[in-house]
Parts: sequence; structure tokens; C-alpha cells
Amino acid sequence: MANNLPDAMPADFMAALAHLDTKDRLGLDEMKLLVLLETSGEPLYQKLASLAPEGEATELLLTNGREEIAHAQRLKRAIEISTGEPFELPSLDENPYAEPPPFTELTPELLAGFVAGETNGDAGYQKWADHEPNPEIAELLRQNGREETRHGERVARVAKILGH
Ligand SMILES: [Fe+2]
Ligand SMILES: [Fe+2]
Repeated sequence: MANNLPDAMPADFMAALAHLDTKDRLGLDEMKLLVLLETSGEPLYQKLASLAPEGEATELLLTNGREEIAHAQRLKRAIEISTGEPFELPSLDENPYAEPPPFTELTPELLAGFVAGETNGDAGYQKWADHEPNPEIAELLRQNGREETRHGERVARVAKILGH
């Protein structure tokens, strides 16, 4: 197996999230798993954007998607700091979580689920940062976390645009 993939890959996106949620601190394998979840965030938000009215709502969702890639880039730096070796982000072809669920509509429940997921995402990153002994890695985790809260705010704005 390529060394940019984790040894443990739970069956689906939600199982992977639940697995990471049980960890106080991210080891190398957990950071690699989180890279897969973050890079899958771009096609996921692109899928949501494809269901949104054109204009501000689409832009907000695509911005979130681009920032998920930036989160993966920060995790790449964290892995490289931790190992002292170059780390290449896996392609979407190699990513078992890359295919978004077959959503057909931006329902209030779906968007509320994303807001909650992003808020939890921030809490998770802050917890991992709290347990991370390397201050540089901890700061990368905190930056990702703060942006997850902004993602939730953008999704809440989309819900408002849709009149939810
Ligand atoms: Fe993210
Ligand atoms: Fe996010």
C-alpha cells in the first residue's frame, strides 16, 4: 500500500469520522485518514453547490470545498514536520471517501447536519491541538478548526438564502 494512505480505513466517511472522534491525539495514521476526509470535502461541497441556486449560495459552498483542500495541505505539512519526510496528498482516485452521497436536494435537515458536522469538526481539531506536543503542528490543527466553524456559518447562510 502506498505510504500516503492510512493502514486503517473505516468503511465509509461517517465511520472514519467516528473513528477519529475516539482519538484524543492524532498519530500519523490518523492524520493520513484525516487527509482523505479533508480532500473528499471538495467533491462533497461541489455536489452541494450543484444543487444550490446560482450566485452567493454556490460561491459559499465552493469556497468551503476549496478550503477543505487547504486543510489537507496543512495536514500534509503536519505529517512532514512529524516524519521529516515528504508527503504527497493521495489523489481522489485513491481515496475511498471521494464519492459524495447521492444527495438530490438541499433540505433543511441536510444543511443543518453540515452545520453540526463543521462545528464538531472545529471541536475535534481543538481537542487534537490540545493534546499535540509539537506547537507548530498544534497551530496548524487550530487553524483548520477555526475554518470549520466558518464553514458552518457559510452553510447556515446558504440555508437562509434558501429560505429555510
Ligand atoms: Fe476541513
Ligand atoms: Fe469544513
